[in-house]
Parts: sequence; C-alpha cells; structure tokens
Amino acid sequence: MTTSEDILANSTNEASLKRSMRRSAEIEMAIDEDPSRFRVMTGDRPTGRLHLGHYFGTLRNRVLLQQRGVDTWVLVADYQVITDRDGVGPIRERVLGLLADYLAVGLDPETTTIFNHSAIPGLNQLMLPFLSLVTESELHRNPTVKAELEATDGRAMSGLMLTYPVHQAADILFCKANLVPVGQDQLPHVEQTRLIAQRFDKRYGRVDPERPVFPRPDALLSQTPLLLGTDGQKMSKSRGNTIELGMSADETAKVLRKAKTDAERVITFDPVSRPEVANLLQLASLATGEAPQAIAESIGDKGAGALKALVTESLNAMLAPIRARRAELEADPGHLLGVLARGNERANAQAEETLTEVRTAMQMMY
Ligand code: TRP
Repeated sequence: MTTSEDILANSTNEASLKRSMRRSAEIEMAIDEDPSRFRVMTGDRPTGRLHLGHYFGTLRNRVLLQQRGVDTWVLVADYQVITDRDGVGPIRERVLGLLADYLAVGLDPETTTIFNHSAIPGLNQLMLPFLSLVTESELHRNPTVKAELEATDGRAMSGLMLTYPVHQAADILFCKANLVPVGQDQLPHVEQTRLIAQRFDKRYGRVDPERPVFPRPDALLSQTPLLLGTDGQKMSKSRGNTIELGMSADETAKVLRKAKTDAERVITFDPVSRPEVANLLQLASLATGEAPQAIAESIGDKGAGALKALVTESLNAMLAPIRARRAELEADPGHLLGVLARGNERANAQAEETLTEVRTAMQMMY
C-alpha cells in the first residue's frame, strides 16, 4: 500500500539522492586536491564470499581511494552477521576468506586499517550513548531495516536488527571517519549517523569548544551501475547467480554458460528492454574498459553464445592475477590473522581515544 507518507518519503528520497550525487562529485574533487582531509570507513559482513557485485560496486573503489592517499579503514563486520541469522555460521573460515579477498584485490594493510567488530570493545561501547540519541520509531522507519525485515520472511525482528543502523554509526564514528562509500540503498544509514553525531554534540557538548567530538560524515556514492546476477535478478549469493572472486576459471565459465539471455540473435545494448543481455555487456565492459555498445557491435549477429564466451574470457583474464594472489593468501592463515591483529591494534588505540573524549564530554571521567 502506498500511503501519503511513502509518497512524501519517495520525493524526499529523490531530492536527497540528487543532493548526495552532487555532494559526491564535490568530494571527488576535494580528494584530488587534498586527500589528507578525509578518512574513509567501510566494511562487509563475513557471511559468504565476495563476488563481482562487491568488486565493481565497492572493492575496486576502496583500492583507488587508498592509492589516491585517503586514510582508509575497512571493517570485517562480524557482529553484524547475527542481525538476521540464528548463528554465526563458519565464521572463522569466512573471515579468513574475506581477508584474502581484501588483500588479493589490492588493499594494503600497511596503509589501510583492517579490523573486526568483536575485537574492538570501545567501538561497541559507543552503542550505549548512541542508542540514547535515537527513538524507537525512527529505527522502525529506517528504509533499510524495513527492507531487510521484509526479506526475512516475516520472522521476528531481533533487537540487534532494529538497532544495527546505530551500531553502524558507531563503526563510522569511533574512528571519526568523514567519508562513507556506499550504494544508494545505504544512504539512510549515513543520514542516521549524521543525526547521531549532531545530537551527541547538542546533548553532551564538546571537549574542544572549537569542534564537535564527532564529524558529520558524508556518503560517497559509487558510480558503478547496478549489476544484476546471471539470471537477471538481483545479484545475491543465496540465488546462486553470482561470480565469486574466489571461483576458478572453469566455475566462472559454467555459471556464465547458464546465464539468462533472450531470443533475439543480434546483440544490442538495451538495458530497458534487454536487461539480461545488457548486464552481460556491462560485465564485459567493466572487465575490459570498452564501452558496452562497442562490445555489442563487435558481436553483432554471432548471438548470445559468442557474448557469453567473450564475457567469460574477459572476466577470467581480469580476475586471474587476483585469484592467484588469493590462493596464496588463503594458504597462509597465519599471515592473514597477523594482518587483522595489527589492524585491530590500531583500531583499539583509536577507539580508546574516542571513548575517552566521549566520556569526558558526558562528564563520566571520575
Ligand atoms: N552493512 C555493510 C554490509 O552489509 C557492512 C558495514 C558494517 C558497513 N558497518 C559499516 C559499511 C559501516 C559501511 C560503514 O556489508
């Protein structure tokens, strides 16, 4: 049912999306001018292997930000795994896999801080003052919480699920990040984080009268078009329609052979009426840097089989060095855990510092 509240929310969303896009463009220029003004914070839940959606949507961009000289913090969001599931699953294996993915795509642990929720007590403690700054109805209205609740098939919502946007605000604010690279669907979280930062300032005040304890972070919208899975549906692990970074070249070929196309033999780039074919062209384009229209023309009447062969070949070529590094890294869990331990050390030092400021502002240093 569409209520007037939804209509209002939608038009507001559109306006705020436009604003966020403009702001992102400004920020891109500011990064080129002076990358040291920014700290980026982002992360992933260790719930499965990372796939091409993650790679083109965010991983590649994180590496670019790192290379442009932006201080980058990447979170293995292990506490977020239990927002919508009953257990942690094979968590150790998944955390190691995620670390291997990060390093294989080019995140450099010397400059980028890689850390995990459950190892950073000071981050988690921020949940308490932050929860005091949001209302229950505000949490219920969060579009991402609503969408995720719908996706869980009517199962009861846990308190953690309801409050995870606040936890995410703690992720961002404990390290005083001022830039959060996100997809459109995560914009409400950044807005919630800004509100919490602002309300903390208003309610509890400052330590340094010149600046609030927390910055008000901006979203940095990713430029990548939304990628679909190989069946033309939303790309997701549970649908089995993804190409994981860690797949072999043969597994990649197999998934792509089964990819959905249409009955039209001549290949054209038409995202509206031929979404599946357009999506494959998009993948080839991302892998080769060539425009999707040009790729479509080069295939012409050779049909979907030729298109799939080209996508397979270009993706496998692009992924080959990443996969080789990934295999080496996975064979050395000690190294991966060492990287995480060093990141956690840095994150804990930062968390302690922030918590001291927070307790000082709250007059709780006795
Ligand atoms: N929600 C993100 C995901 O589903 C992971 C995440 C946790 C995150 N905390 C964050 C992303 C803070 C950006 C900022 O993968």
